[in-house]
This record gives sequence, C-alpha cells and structure tokens, in this order.
Amino acid sequence: MSELLSVQHLTKSFQTSSQQPVCILNDISFSLQAGESMAVCGESGSGKSTLLFVLGGLLPLDKGHIFFQQQPIVYNHLVASSEIGYVFQHYQLIEELNVEENIYLPSRIQQKTVDRHFFNKIVDLLKIASLLQRQTTHLSGGECQRIAIARTLLTQPKLILADEPTGSLDEATGMRVMDLFFYVCQTLGTSFILVTHNAVFAEKTNKVFYLKRGKMSDEKD
Ligand SMILES: Nc1ncnc2c1ncn2[C@@H]1O[C@H](COP(=O)(O)OP(=O)(O)OP(=O)(O)O)[C@@H](O)[C@H]1O
Ligand SMILES: [Mg+2]
Repeated sequence: MSELLSVQHLTKSFQTSSQQPVCILNDISFSLQAGESMAVCGESGSGKSTLLFVLGGLLPLDKGHIFFQQQPIVYNHLVASSEIGYVFQHYQLIEELNVEENIYLPSRIQQKTVDRHFFNKIVDLLKIASLLQRQTTHLSGGECQRIAIARTLLTQPKLILADEPTGSLDEATGMRVMDLFFYVCQTLGTSFILVTHNAVFAEKTNKVFYLKRGKMSDEKD
C-alpha cells in the first residue's frame, strides 16, 4: 500500500473576538494508506469538522504540514480538489439546480466522464430515483443527505472526507446508506475519513481515533 495522506504536527486555533485564541487541534499527526479508512469520533465541539476542513484545504492551519499523495495541501489551493470528495454535515446542495443536476455538478466541473450505469446504481441503492427531477428546496434532510452522498460518490475521488453523513437520517436508512457507502468505497478502493458518533459505523473502518481537548488518540478515554 502507498501513503495517501500524511498529517504532521497539525495545529489549528480559532480567534474569538474577546478571548485568547482557542486551540482546537493541537499537534496532531497521523497517516492514511491508499484504500484505508478511518473514523474520527469525539464530543460536539471537539474539532471534528474543523479537522476535515483543514485536511481538504478549506481552512488554513496554524502549524504543521499535510501531504496528499506526497503533495502539500495548501489552503484555498484546489490542486487536490478532484481527488478529495466531501460529504458535508450540512449538505450544501445548489437550490437553482434540480437533483440530477446537483449530482452531476462536481463531475462536470472536474470534467470527469460519468458512467451512466454507475450513476443508476448509486441512485438506485440510495433510493433517490424518484427525486431526480425535483428541485432541492422542499426535500427532507434525509433526502438531501442521500443526494449529497451520491454527488460525492459519482466523482470517484481517492479520498472522501465524510462529516456525519447519516446524522440526519433515521436509523434504518442510516444503516442502509452507510452500508452502501462502505461497499462502494471498498469496491473502488476509495479511502475515507468518517466523522461519526456511531460506534457500529466507526468499527467498520480500519482505525478509529478519538478527538479530545485538541489531541487525537486511538484510545477512547
Ligand atoms: N470559524 C470559527 N471561528 C471560531 N470558532 C470556531 C469556528 N469554527 C468552529 N469553531 C469552534 O471550534 C470548535 C470545534 O468546532 P467543530 O465544528 O470542528 O466541532 P465538531 O467536533 O465538528 O462538533 P459537532 O459534533 O457539533 O459537529 C467549536 O467550539 C466551535 O465553536
Ligand atoms: Mg461537526
């Protein structure tokens, strides 16, 4: 296996208006091999979303280095963008586009050829075929999240950063969606970092880390 992601001494603070900077990620190091998956668990506010944003170059870091396929990830620099896919905690669908257009959009922007059979398979497994021509404005949270997952899977990225992808789904739907997510990632050899509160999902990944008081540990407490 080759190294996909290397995180070295990552430190990230937020400046709040009245107080000293608050250190959210404190000297964090880990690596991920190609095809490997990992889960990040931790209490609300522990910095899980911040970690994913920094890893993808969507937020600047204070100190440390991140290498994706041996290339440095630089804040706001979109070199890695077609290789890293996101499933955000808040779906971030485009209201002006219908569901099918939303699903196709990142692939079109990245000029990736889309296999229609693969598209149909994802749409079928996520049970969103009946939604394809709908606008996104009046969809339920669960429907939006399934569309957001389909949109990311369709681009076939090397690494998916998934932030509580089933947080807004009922338990049975959440299980089905995650089973699909694991299945597709395994089939395609796609690595992923999954932020989740669900121990069952976390245990299905290759390694589990816990974020607490800025530190990441492979021990729960
Ligand atoms: N842009 C920002 N400016 C200042 N503080 C921020 C900013 N973004 C996040 N924070 C703070 O950083 C901490 C970590 O936030 P983050 O969203 O990463 O937590 P989380 O672990 O994803 O929580 P949750 O499980 O609720 O999604 C929180 O205290 C949050 O208020
Ligand atoms: Mg979060």
